[in-house]
Amino acid sequence: MHIVVLMGGWSGERPVSLKSGEGVAEALESLGHRVTRIDMDRDVAARLAEAKPDLVFNALHGSPGEDGTVQGMMDLMGLRYTHSGLATSVIAVDKQLTKQALVPHGIPMPGGRMVKSAELFEGDPLPRPYVVKPVNEGSSLGVAIVTDEGNYGNPIGRDVAGPWAEFEELLAEPYIRGRELTTAVLGDRAMGVTELKPKNGWYDFDSKYTDGLTEHVYPADVPDEITQACNAIALEAHRLLGCRGTSRADFRWDDSRGVDGLFLLEVNTQPGMTPLSLVPEQARHNGMSYPELVQRIVDEALR
Ligand code: DAL
Ligand code: MG
Repeated sequence: MHIVVLMGGWSGERPVSLKSGEGVAEALESLGHRVTRIDMDRDVAARLAEAKPDLVFNALHGSPGEDGTVQGMMDLMGLRYTHSGLATSVIAVDKQLTKQALVPHGIPMPGGRMVKSAELFEGDPLPRPYVVKPVNEGSSLGVAIVTDEGNYGNPIGRDVAGPWAEFEELLAEPYIRGRELTTAVLGDRAMGVTELKPKNGWYDFDSKYTDGLTEHVYPADVPDEITQACNAIALEAHRLLGCRGTSRADFRWDDSRGVDGLFLLEVNTQPGMTPLSLVPEQARHNGMSYPELVQRIVDEALR
């Protein structure tokens, strides 16, 4: 099969996508597929038309590869592609739209509200501790955690115009103290729970992609009811949003509150496929090699 691996692009997650894409391309080649690598630029439609692939493996992260734009273009061109389609991508990339879609179905997510970045000059948008983040970024880019003890990530207050100048609207949410958990879904199955234990305070961009900065514990050392709840919520969110192939649900768990302290933060429809990424790692724990995972994502796209 001739497969284009679409990667790179110009989002803040470009370097991550290049790593995901190269890993996927090498796996596809090892499986005997003919692979064309395309580092996405604004001529991507012309390059796809010329390549005439049987399938596009979407290894993009962030906008416009994860927000429905590229999906809509490929729909229009009659191309088949991996991962979620247009409507799912539009909703899932936006953390506020995701809440509007999932909370009415009983999926626990943090409250909070959208704020104008200018409002942050005037004071705290919510009682501390809270998080402020771009509504549609990935890999913790642009996230600030504000507590009485201090800030992590972006500086807030007077410096806000710097890091957040490009974002007019931001999402402010209560910060859930406790633990960072994640669950991947592949096809119709949730793959268990990994706990992320970053060594430098919180699970930021560097902790995500630098070997040795975060301990990954699988299966997470949490009560069975938490494992079951993460699996159930991840699968239900995947289904409600209409995700295809794979997705990854990220959680915070306040372990002083039992299952009532578990909150879904977001669903990633284009989860990382780098050597340190969590979907490949959970697949491996479930007996599936990286090339087998890649082939499975291909198969799900062709169903
Ligand atoms: N946004 C990154 C790629 C992830 O969710 O893994
Ligand atoms: Mg994300």
